[in-house]
Amino acid sequence: MSSAAHTDFITLFRERHSVRHFDESHKLSEQEIKELLTIAGSAPSSWNLQHWKFVAITEAAAKEKLLPVANGQKQVIDASVTVAILGDLQANRNAEAVYRPAVQAGLEDTYAGYSSYQAMIAQIEGASSSYRRDEAIRNASLAAMQLMLAAKAKGLDSGPMVGFDAEAFVKAFHVPPRYVPVLLVAIGKAARPARPTSRFPVEQTIIWNGF
Ligand SMILES: Cc1cc2nc3c(=O)[nH]c(=O)nc-3n(C[C@H](O)[C@H](O)[C@H](O)COP(=O)(O)O)c2cc1C
Repeated sequence: MSSAAHTDFITLFRERHSVRHFDESHKLSEQEIKELLTIAGSAPSSWNLQHWKFVAITEAAAKEKLLPVANGQKQVIDASVTVAILGDLQANRNAEAVYRPAVQAGLEDTYAGYSSYQAMIAQIEGASSSYRRDEAIRNASLAAMQLMLAAKAKGLDSGPMVGFDAEAFVKAFHVPPRYVPVLLVAIGKAARPARPTSRFPVEQTIIWNGF
């Protein structure tokens, strides 16, 4: 990778901020949204189980339904799309589809660290329900972060929101019990810049080699 590209990527990290006012006339095509979600879904995940589902909310009626669920945060109306990132509580069920091609091709390295495919599946299946919930949230959050950075890279802005009623979301959008709502991410063209924010000095956030 060239050093110029590297610098651009760091600039992109620095310039991403949470936008709360979007240009309501800006639309994204289904293809553009798919592209963003393809990049989001290239995030890493435990055992590559891809613990995410994306509910893409684009239509006026669906946005109106989301508004009270999102505590009246108007960005869900004005954004081109609000993506609800759901975590998969039963991502273990993805294992066969993820690993079948590798197993059929005899690519044992795919499950390196395990004595066999069966040993890996046994570990995946052996996880407790609280661990599975942690995993759903942890891995879906990585996809959410990639989505925000992908949006920025495409010249768009985003705003993450956990200020919503997850139970009401499940009811309003008929989410099956397999999935847990993790985060809403509004995406579109900023109508107003994000509020300025700062971060703790890095020295305050690092503990070298343990507490
Ligand atoms: C998990 C999470 C939940 C958030 N929920 C909301 C929210 O409901 N409403 C909102 O206006 N901002 C929300 N934010 C945005 C934060 O306030 C924002 O990221 C933080 O103040 C830092 O600002 P910046 O993202 O502009 O750098 C959320 C951010 C995260 C990461």
